Amino acid sequence: MQSKFILIAGGTGLIGKRLADYLFEKGYNIGVLTRNPIASNHYYWNPEKNEIDTSVLEKVTHLVNLTGESIASQRWSVKRKEVLVDSRIKPIAFLYSYVSQMTRLQHFISASGVTCFDVTNENKIFVESDPFGVDFLSKVVQQWEKKADLFQSHCLVSKVRISPVLDSKGGIIHTMKKPILLGLGSSLGSGNQWMPWIHQKDLSALFYHIITQQLEGVFHAVASNNTNKEFTSTLAKVLNRKIVLPNLPKPMAKILFGEMATLLLDGVQISNSKIIDSGFVFQFDDLESALYQVVG
Ligand SMILES: NC(=O)c1ccc[n+]([C@@H]2O[C@H](COP(=O)([O-])OP(=O)(O)OC[C@H]3O[C@@H](n4cnc5c(N)ncnc54)[C@H](OP(=O)(O)O)[C@@H]3O)[C@@H](O)[C@H]2O)c1
Repeated sequence: MQSKFILIAGGTGLIGKRLADYLFEKGYNIGVLTRNPIASNHYYWNPEKNEIDTSVLEKVTHLVNLTGESIASQRWSVKRKEVLVDSRIKPIAFLYSYVSQMTRLQHFISASGVTCFDVTNENKIFVESDPFGVDFLSKVVQQWEKKADLFQSHCLVSKVRISPVLDSKGGIIHTMKKPILLGLGSSLGSGNQWMPWIHQKDLSALFYHIITQQLEGVFHAVASNNTNKEFTSTLAKVLNRKIVLPNLPKPMAKILFGEMATLLLDGVQISNSKIIDSGFVFQFDDLESALYQVVG
């Protein structure tokens, strides 16, 4: 049997680095596509410039796409919104234009997001087959997943709707930890909005499960759903701090963050039944234990 080679586009990021290490430990050969190669298994590409080191393509059995500019790092100007969409859609289209050179390709697995549903429906638990919402992020996810489906004519395609990832090295914990440590932490808006989440170890294991079980389609990568208030107070507890400030009012959050405030103020419950029914077992599904593991 020929060895499996997993090429991770965007494999230098928060999720990609963890995934590359996890899959390497499982015995896979790993390559990373990056605009700034610095390691021996890094291969240069730049989708915006239509440039790629094609020498790696004939080896690839599994292609994982984790590209995309950060959703939460800047306010969403018209220009920024274009960047958020383009940095997700164009790399997939660019990869697809080389699919004929990936003669061993069996499976294309793309990152996607859980922020794709009607945020006004707080009581519903959304499953993978529910319709998309109509806000900006829902439209981003819809276009992202549609582009991934290009690969369906060549191999299995999976789209992993990732929820905020709990990781000591960055992401949501990094952002929320700072004000709490300074005694300036508070819940946002009503505090009752839902925050689905997943521990980084479970996320890597979930990608591995999809690869080994050869699963196709859309999957929610969500360990559990907690409210913003529960999340903030549990993180404060784990950090040995107290939340003393009142909730940041919704209009204030909108002034501070603009349209991007939707990431903080609007959240719905996301079902993980589909991936569990496929045999996946979450190692971390209790928020407090997961947070202790990450920051404790
Ligand atoms: N972290 C989370 O909590 C979370 C939650 C839901 C969804 N996601 C999604 O999962 C994916 C990975 O997330 P992450 O947290 O690992 O992100 P990250 O740390 O920001 O890494 C993203 C990677 O994408 C590459 N990239 C960015 N813009 C690109 C472009 N225009 N062309 C080619 N490559 C580009 C970068 O690689 P180089 O600079 O090396 O080229 C970077 O390493 C993203 O699409 C993100 O939206 C993440």
